[in-house]
Amino acid sequence: MFYPEEIVEEVRTRTDIVDIVSGYVKLQKKGSNYFGLCPFHNEKSPSFSVSPGKQMYYCFGCGAGGNAITFLMEYENYSFPEALEILADRAGVALPKEELSKEARAQADLKAALLEINKLAANYFYYQLKHPQGKAGYDYLRGRQLGDDTIRRFGLGFANKTGNDLYRYLRDKGYGDEILKQTGLVTIEERGTHDKFWNRVMFPIMDVNNRVIGFGGRVMGDGTPKYLNSPETRLFDKSRNLYGLNYAKSSREKYLLICEGYMDVIAMHQAGFTNAVASLGTAFTSQHASLIKRYTDQVILTYDSDGAGVKAALRAIPILKEAGVSAKVLNMEPYKDPDEFIKNLGADAFRQRIGEAKNSFLFEIDVLKKEFNLEDPEQKTRFYNSAARKLLEFREALERDNYIQAVSREHMINYQDLKKLVNSLGSRLGTGPEAGGQPKPSSYQERKKEKEDGPKKSQRLLLTWLIEEPRLFDKIGGIITPDDFKEDLYHKVAVMVFEDHARGEVNPAAILNHFINDQEEYKTVASLFHARLKESLSGEEQNKAFTETVYKVKKNSLDEASRTATDIAQLQDIIRARSELKRLHISLD
Ligand code: UTP
Ligand code: MN
Repeated sequence: MFYPEEIVEEVRTRTDIVDIVSGYVKLQKKGSNYFGLCPFHNEKSPSFSVSPGKQMYYCFGCGAGGNAITFLMEYENYSFPEALEILADRAGVALPKEELSKEARAQADLKAALLEINKLAANYFYYQLKHPQGKAGYDYLRGRQLGDDTIRRFGLGFANKTGNDLYRYLRDKGYGDEILKQTGLVTIEERGTHDKFWNRVMFPIMDVNNRVIGFGGRVMGDGTPKYLNSPETRLFDKSRNLYGLNYAKSSREKYLLICEGYMDVIAMHQAGFTNAVASLGTAFTSQHASLIKRYTDQVILTYDSDGAGVKAALRAIPILKEAGVSAKVLNMEPYKDPDEFIKNLGADAFRQRIGEAKNSFLFEIDVLKKEFNLEDPEQKTRFYNSAARKLLEFREALERDNYIQAVSREHMINYQDLKKLVNSLGSRLGTGPEAGGQPKPSSYQERKKEKEDGPKKSQRLLLTWLIEEPRLFDKIGGIITPDDFKEDLYHKVAVMVFEDHARGEVNPAAILNHFINDQEEYKTVASLFHARLKESLSGEEQNKAFTETVYKVKKNSLDEASRTATDIAQLQDIIRARSELKRLHISLD
């Protein structure tokens, strides 16, 4: 899907970023900008800024930045066209439909129709549940201690005993067999047509935007399958959705609770734990992890306490870790799952268990320990060796030592002995830092802290300055041109900034749109307009700071020119420019 630049610009100019962001983040005005807690990383004091002037947001903590369109793309995980459509809709801008290829339009129409049918079906099931024909279902859910509010919130319903009443209902609504087949709700065969879900309580599955993308249906009592689920359709991709996330995403907790089933999510929400989600019996995937990472970097696993649940937790932990999400594991004993735990011991006891949830590494060691008979000295030694080997996963000495301490404390192993064991194993395997193993690749945070490259920083400062105070363009006339911005991306941006200025007004959020297809690029571009300017400087200090920035940008540019100069005349020009530069003094008054 491709929308012409003018349309994108029209949508953007008719959109106020403060409006959009404040739908998600509580903002407070400070000077000419707004500040709030960054929705893209966890923080306690607000470093997330929204600038009405630039029509951009930028987080001074994590570097997330962009305009209204990228905000929706990052927060809601929309594609560019999706974000644009939402904003166009809000702003009352009609998007040209014919811009879609025929095929793309057909796909979009099909998706919209499938969503519409799912919504109708969900309403239908809900209606049944609330009427005499659905009494069995209603009683079943009430018997499982769900209140009416909960039933409504999760849109629970009932699929009748009659063979094809949903099918007939949807036909009456005007939908033909061709599309109904694709919903997964009905089976259409020569012999006749029947509903897929039959005599079951129904759980609509919603995506993060509250759209019904599929269903699960539970048999009332014993019977197989216990849960019947919608097949994967164009809308429903199990490995990318988490049940309950539509509500959990706006919970105020910093972490998500991850469980296995429909009833667990619902029971937890009903008990006040509205940050619970489920991967619905399917294995936890890396797509699940990156979906989670959009909202938080901490989770507590509340999988079933049986063998399968432990296995599922062991599988999920490294997947989460890989995505940058740290996990703890909740001990549900003596109950099987959160639903049963809460039913028997109540919300307070569950909250206490959350507080006691175990660090995922220590949980893994606990599981490991069960493989050995510690009465037997040989097996005990093997357990110690296995634990030591696992401790080698930590490449950082300090972190590793913290875990050595924790493991020795929990499993009554002498700390010094365990440490020695880990170290000798490390040097034998060649993985420890002592053995000159690979250093741990520096984390995002660490990379960020790396000392900033001087010339780049000056170029950023200058761009930010020019955006914030356009009158400064006059001060650098004859000194700085876009070609003095040597970094490739910076240069592209500078060209646009100078061109915009020549035309009358610089529009940072519009410039950003040129880089919208590449998240790394648009983040960098956003950072170019958000260098930290020192605000409290006195007049003369300001002059000095600005002069110094201009000096550095120009000096770097001249240095590079002299490295690549090919003839004497060029070099002479550079030498002359350099000596002029030494006398540079810019007064901002
Ligand atoms: P469980 O068997 O643990 O069920 O499956 P549960 O959640 O405790 O269900 P209740 O409390 O008996 O009603 C966990 C999840 O695995 C999926 C469902 O999503 C279920 O919630 N599942 C299970 C299926 O999809 N099909 C099945 O036949 C069983
Ligand atoms: Mn259960």
